[in-house]
Amino acid sequence: MENQPIIEIRGLDKIYKTKNAEVQALRDINLTIDKGEIYGIIGLSGAGKSTLVRCMNFLERPTAGHVFVDGVDLGTLNTRELGKARQNIGMIFQQFNLMMQRTVEKNICFPMEIAGVDKASQKKRVDELLEIVDLSDKRDVYPSQLSGGQKQRVAIARALATSPSVLLCDEATSALDPKTTRAILTLLKDINRKLGITIVIITHEMSVIEEVCSQVAIIDNSQIAESGRVAEIFAHPKTASAQRLVNPEGNKIDFGGRPGKSIRIVFDGNSSYEPVIGSMVLHCKAPVNIMFADTKNIEGRAYGQMIIQLPEDESTAGKMLEYLSGQNVSVEEVSADD
Ligand SMILES: Nc1ncnc2c1ncn2[C@@H]1O[C@H](COP(=O)(O)OP(=O)(O)OP(=O)(O)O)[C@@H](O)[C@H]1O
Ligand SMILES: [Mg+2]
Repeated sequence: MENQPIIEIRGLDKIYKTKNAEVQALRDINLTIDKGEIYGIIGLSGAGKSTLVRCMNFLERPTAGHVFVDGVDLGTLNTRELGKARQNIGMIFQQFNLMMQRTVEKNICFPMEIAGVDKASQKKRVDELLEIVDLSDKRDVYPSQLSGGQKQRVAIARALATSPSVLLCDEATSALDPKTTRAILTLLKDINRKLGITIVIITHEMSVIEEVCSQVAIIDNSQIAESGRVAEIFAHPKTASAQRLVNPEGNKIDFGGRPGKSIRIVFDGNSSYEPVIGSMVLHCKAPVNIMFADTKNIEGRAYGQMIIQLPEDESTAGKMLEYLSGQNVSVEEVSADD
């Protein structure tokens, strides 16, 4: 199970052709998602996230490149084979996409009806699924009688009906309040852990990535800017788009006109920053300006980052950098245009 790819995307381009124009929604995407991961894809509106996730089950056909699911190149399948392959890939959406004229049970049955599952097996599977999403008492109600969070639970049950090995989630919590968001994310984590389903989460919110994902790809302007372990990207964002996402407040700091270098210090979770900064200030006998501080919990470990402005005096600033290099923290210079 370790590091076995389930989704591989190679050289994928997607160009939408409209009457008067062409839009390049994705450009040379290469991505590997391993079995059992919760993989996040984050980016700004219009970056190409939905297009990418819809290419993963060929709801959109790539203009160029390949999508392999479980080693099978989706581009080589005929319509019937593609339908079969899609039973292995569940999907949920921001707007739930339930059928309003069908009860909860009938919504969940829908993909099984298409797959030709017999009635008795459908009923049995609905029992199991309602248990998983904790909605056993809502079997016979209509979607209009449910809250947003409950609707998304029905959509999750429906997506799991054909026992897929992948669940794609396109902004699945974006229409929900923070508390409901957390409950849905916890459910997705449970599903990943208990059923071993690989989950792909599309979002524009860093907090969603932090809360549930182990891996993340940042998509910016139709391309992957950076990808890797969430903890690694959080601690060492390399590209400007990663830095913007990891540290949006830090980005708004007004450096205007202030002399002296500013540095970002990242604490790996074992250390806490107050004692380090405190002893540095004592050691170097000069104050620093703390411009931003934040702690995040990623995969159960606390990560802290702080942006401080060093004294204008270069020899004191140098002494501080030297002091920090002897501590268990990572330090990098930041500038106003980061
Ligand atoms: N069916 C379509 N026809 C033409 N252009 C499209 C189509 N779907 C998406 N696009 C364009 O492709 C680009 C990427 O869109 P996409 O929906 O993938 O972005 P997104 O990252 O999901 O954005 P959001 O966060 O707003 O959902 C945008 O410029 C969009 O206008
Ligand atoms: Mg989208």
